[in-house]
Amino acid sequence: MVSSCTLGAQASSFIEATYTDTRAVVALSRGVSSGRPTPTAQAVSIIPHTPEDSMVGRIVGVDKLYPTKMQTPIVQIIQGDALHALATIPDQTAHLTFTSPPYYNARDYAHYPDYETYLETIVAVVREIHRVTAEGRFFVLNTSPIIVPREHRQDQSRRYAIPYDLHPRICAVGFDFIDDIIWVKPAPASKNRNAGFQQHRQPLTYKANPVAEYLMVYRKRTNRLIDWNLRQYPRECRDASRVEMTVERENVWYIPPAHDPVHPAVFPIELARRIVALYSFIGDTVLDPFAGAGTVGCAALELQRNAILIERDPNYCRRARERIAEVQFRMP
Ligand SMILES: C[S@@+](CC[C@H](N)C(=O)[O-])C[C@H]1O[C@@H](n2cnc3c(N)ncnc32)[C@H](O)[C@@H]1O
Repeated sequence: MVSSCTLGAQASSFIEATYTDTRAVVALSRGVSSGRPTPTAQAVSIIPHTPEDSMVGRIVGVDKLYPTKMQTPIVQIIQGDALHALATIPDQTAHLTFTSPPYYNARDYAHYPDYETYLETIVAVVREIHRVTAEGRFFVLNTSPIIVPREHRQDQSRRYAIPYDLHPRICAVGFDFIDDIIWVKPAPASKNRNAGFQQHRQPLTYKANPVAEYLMVYRKRTNRLIDWNLRQYPRECRDASRVEMTVERENVWYIPPAHDPVHPAVFPIELARRIVALYSFIGDTVLDPFAGAGTVGCAALELQRNAILIERDPNYCRRARERIAEVQFRMP
């Protein structure tokens, strides 16, 4: 017999009670199907958040670190700044964080005065992720080096090694490095930096076309072995959470990029599915503090995990809610 291992009953009623007056709540109900753990009901809400918000400290309706009761997966979308919103989340709430922060000033949605300020901002968020992460659980960061194009022809373009610069800072916060997974996209998806070299074939002018991004895998520092984490779950939950999907044995994953009509930089749902399936159990809570169009929330819901998504831009929040609702309706 399979039973699910999800959140206590407090969670869904919490959403109902607290957020109906935001006029942004969508609560969707589902029937129960037998044979495997399925969500019976689920709420998708956008929670406007400001630091002085009266909901501070009450954002997350997770009442148990390792829940045992049958319950529904819940996706909460908090609209606000990652750092401020995270401050309202209780310690050790998240079993997994998977996120792709802004890549310095590579896109319209981010403007940092300089690279050092950018790194400090991301590390401040990582400190909060560390606090809200349960003991010995995982934090997976998707980034890649980026190029900031030159403004004038006589200038050099600057390349920033974001994953390498963040890595020592993340370890200093209290995460242990576990793995670096290279996500490879098909060559046509990459920016062409090679044209000049191909024309003149001069030494020193070679610039490789970037087809890879990094998935840096960290574990919150603890003396306990992974076995200790596994033992927190009942046998049925571990059985139901077995990873049956096909994943490369090596640390190079080939996954085509994704595009979205609203958000300019979504990652593919396949990437999120793999990370969620590999680093969390059914009923766990998955966090994405830079949630964009909610890809992590979609994967979490598909895989019967709860999700807490934080996103600053209200349009992206709305897009996330729309996509999550689509997943909800597609599910059996
Ligand atoms: C790389 S995108 C994430 C895309 C996401 N993985 C997806 O698949 O949709 C980074 C997101 O972080 C958001 N963002 C940037 N700074 C933020 C902040 N301080 N707090 C919350 N969100 C922020 C941006 O609006 C952007 O949507």
